[in-house]
Amino acid sequence: MPNLSTISLSASSPLNQFLFRQLGAWLDQPLNLIGAPANLDWQQLASVFAAAQQPVQVWTNDWRSVCAAQAVGIQSFFTADKAPTRLVGRSLLFWPKAKEEGYWWLEQLLNLPHEQLLLAGESNGGINALAKQLKAADLAISKLDSARRCALYTLNALAPAKDLIIQNTSTTTSSQQWAGPDELALVSQAGVFSHGRVDEGSALLIKTLAQQPHPTQGQLLDIGCGCGLLGAWLVKQHPTLTLTAADVSGFALKATRATLAANGLAGQAVAADIFSGLADYTPEQGFDFIISNPPFHTGKTTDYELASRLISQAPQFMRKGAELWLVANRFLPYGDLLQQAFKNFVLVTETGKFRVYKAIKSN
Ligand SMILES: C[S@@+](CC[C@H](N)C(=O)[O-])C[C@H]1O[C@@H](n2cnc3c(N)ncnc32)[C@H](O)[C@@H]1O
Repeated sequence: MPNLSTISLSASSPLNQFLFRQLGAWLDQPLNLIGAPANLDWQQLASVFAAAQQPVQVWTNDWRSVCAAQAVGIQSFFTADKAPTRLVGRSLLFWPKAKEEGYWWLEQLLNLPHEQLLLAGESNGGINALAKQLKAADLAISKLDSARRCALYTLNALAPAKDLIIQNTSTTTSSQQWAGPDELALVSQAGVFSHGRVDEGSALLIKTLAQQPHPTQGQLLDIGCGCGLLGAWLVKQHPTLTLTAADVSGFALKATRATLAANGLAGQAVAADIFSGLADYTPEQGFDFIISNPPFHTGKTTDYELASRLISQAPQFMRKGAELWLVANRFLPYGDLLQQAFKNFVLVTETGKFRVYKAIKSN
């Protein structure tokens, strides 16, 4: 389980405050929090429901929410392992900024009976646009509250709307051939990074690795593995590498496992928040090779916190002489971060848009 001190829990987020003003009305039944973000006041939530003697459960695709909920004794399920098949009581879906994930949840939820189905989210995350879309499909949806740039709706599931949602999403698993330096079948689903295409930055990293010397044996870690592209490509080139692929998203882990299986490749896909959660999977001497196209966006603003954490902590997880390879948009200040953490780095390739960096652990 990640060390919670590394998770930036901002319990004062507008959505958290908005949620708490509704809680009094929800204490008469069990509550299912679906797709709950990590930055809720979990302790307070657990206390309120314990006092009312009502159970709360969490179902989420975000490993950080699973850990935060479990830490205060709330039963939580990670989507990578389990999708809900039966929900008792009221269900609240947090509408995510990644719309495909929201549609996937809606599809699951509309197939299950509920005492009440609620939708909550931030206005700039598309909750009101979703409500309009569902209303246009003749779904019985009505607004219960709005404040702090958040809104809460109640929804009655009707068959026509269910069909509409399913048509509007591509939640089925897809397989494609990637024609890079080598072919690889990629298996993915809506909600996984760069679903149905290969990210330009990741393609550049692979092309660069194909032309440059890099570790070809030992323990490889792919951080933020998405559908598994980078790690799978490397183990296909060098079966002497042992792959650990990590991601915070349950969908990504499922996709990576499917990509590895589709190509007959070995490797493990594990849940982690950057390095938090990886202690049990780290070899005693550290990894020989770490690769990443690091996550840098959270919501609509640019945020380097994740990449900064990745680069500053990487040396602790690497053996002497091990290599860290990263690709990033050229405007991101990763050179400075690498210089600080490794005292040296190489800018291996750059294009108008991206840079590929390499840093070697020297001691
Ligand atoms: C830029 S994508 C790269 C995906 C894949 N490696 C590729 O090249 O296509 C970054 C990935 O990091 C994951 N991610 C986001 N936050 C994370 C975190 N805190 N810890 C680990 N992975 C995270 C995302 O789910 C996403 O799959």
